[in-house]
Amino acid sequence: MHAPILAPSILAGDHANLAASAQLVESLSVTWIHLDIMDGHFVPNLTFGPQTVAALRKGSKLFFDTHLMLAEPQRYIEAFAKAGANLISIHIEPAYDHAATLKRIRELGCLNGIVLNPGTPAEAIQPFLDQVDLVLVMTVQPGFGGQPFRRDMLPKIAQIDAWRRERGLNFRLEVDGGIDLKNGPECRAAGVDTFVAGTSFFGAADKAAVAQTIAAW
Ligand code: DX5
Ligand code: ZN
Repeated sequence: MHAPILAPSILAGDHANLAASAQLVESLSVTWIHLDIMDGHFVPNLTFGPQTVAALRKGSKLFFDTHLMLAEPQRYIEAFAKAGANLISIHIEPAYDHAATLKRIRELGCLNGIVLNPGTPAEAIQPFLDQVDLVLVMTVQPGFGGQPFRRDMLPKIAQIDAWRRERGLNFRLEVDGGIDLKNGPECRAAGVDTFVAGTSFFGAADKAAVAQTIAAW
């Protein structure tokens, strides 16, 4: 089982000073940060693009866990790789060549990830499990931070973890959406090793305590 990793979501950080939010994460010895990229098509919201990621890269050694919520992610992976993304995850729902895009992400020197929305069954990503470094199970409908955790996603997480063990695969299993110190242990028990936390991290008075708690799961 992989050691737990916390990936604070900068979506809940200070959008007038994202660099400061990244520095805050780094100052707590947290090694990952989650970057939510939204296009206003695949999800009904907009965030930021490769230029912002490149600007953050200049002042940060964090591992950039880059979550593309894009209708046409294959068009942008090269730009995000060049901007300094370390991992690029792409959704299964839009129609494009998923296998070729996952392969290309690795060729660009990044780790890759496949993402499923709450309404998408685990079976949809099953054919790609031997081609990915990470599977991200959305525990909210993507687009906005601060939504409640979908507990009904736990069986899907457990199914993906079971496939991982049955096939001896080594990908990370990540959850994103409404994750906090209460529901995180349930996710951990279902097989999760990588925890995105936006509101519960940036909204916490004692962020170091949140990081230490998750590191001990
Ligand atoms: C949702 C994003 C999440 C979001 C999580 O569309 O993909 O990464 O930032 O935020 P919280 O933890 O507040 O649900
Ligand atoms: Zn995300």
